[in-house]
Amino acid sequence: MIRSVVQGCGAYLPERVVSNAELARTMDTSDEWIQQRTGIRQRHIAAEGEFTSHLAIKASQRALDQAGLKGSDLDLIVLCTATPDLTFPATATRVQAALGMTKGAAFDVQAVCAGFIYGLSVADSMIKSGLASTALVIGAETFSRILDWSDRGTSVLFGDGAGAVVLKAEQGEGTAHDRGILAHALHSDGRQHDILYVDGGPSSTRTTGLLRMEGKEVFKHAVVNMAAVVGEVLDKAGLTSKDIDWLVPHQANKRIIDGTGRKLGLPPERVVITVDRHANTSAASIPLALEVAVNDGRVKRGDLLLMEGIGGGLAWGASLVRW
Ligand code: ACO
Repeated sequence: MIRSVVQGCGAYLPERVVSNAELARTMDTSDEWIQQRTGIRQRHIAAEGEFTSHLAIKASQRALDQAGLKGSDLDLIVLCTATPDLTFPATATRVQAALGMTKGAAFDVQAVCAGFIYGLSVADSMIKSGLASTALVIGAETFSRILDWSDRGTSVLFGDGAGAVVLKAEQGEGTAHDRGILAHALHSDGRQHDILYVDGGPSSTRTTGLLRMEGKEVFKHAVVNMAAVVGEVLDKAGLTSKDIDWLVPHQANKRIIDGTGRKLGLPPERVVITVDRHANTSAASIPLALEVAVNDGRVKRGDLLLMEGIGGGLAWGASLVRW
């Protein structure tokens, strides 16, 4: 059985760090409020002229270096983003050109904060079906560009960044002991479209628009849907929460993450948290967290990782990966 095995991961964060205290100098908020409600202490913000593609290229190059591969070895790039450089073409094609990849396909996937899980499942499916053999899955965002900085209820929550993983087709035994991606579960519920959206777009307003959110509603759905989807993906793989070595969740809010960790019965030290440093970087948040836990030595070969995320759509999902 073909498995998509992770060969390397990489991340990139813009240089500029903005603390809660700095935000409190320009809007009616406080470090205490933000930390208590979300766990966020700071976020990275892209520089003028620094685009989603620039962050994606740097993260991808690091992932390729760790994998010991070159851009020309790739035959698939899936770039997960809700903040593309341009309306079209896909930002993935800019990354493709910069990495020197000339064969195969490069395209974007748009599932907002669930983007990385969706992108991983698309790349895994293409690898398993024989359409690709060496894939780069990137989550990259510049959410600072779509924030309404006059709205303290949303603008304090997000940051910019990028993370990437390289997947390669390898032969597995078809058991849960195989290295690589073991299972995915994906969902969306379009009835919740209007609780988290950007109020612009080429077809509706010819503007880019700004992020709008009913925070309490999103919070409620996030807690319920995350609890359900982690159970579902474990069932699919024939595993239980006792088998999980690391929960690598979408980093939206520490309270949502803690709820999922409790539901799984995982001790807090088995949950990777970066929301304090990165804030919510949408599709980039899972690969950013993954890169931290891999490079500080927590995640080891053979470990079982559960990744999960939810965002606008609503769209959500979970993936189980044996490292
Ligand atoms: N600083 C200070 N006060 C604030 C701020 C702020 N930045 N923002 C809102 N407030 C005030 C509100 O005006 C309100 O004041 P009032 O009582 O005088 O009217 C009060 O704080 C409470 O506001 P709520 O919106 O009710 O606060 P809540 O407890 O719901 O927390 C939050 C808001 C943190 C957004 C929470 O709802 C949440 O985490 N929701 C999940 C949404 C999320 O994570 N979205 C990310 C995208 S989707 C995803 O990735 C899952």
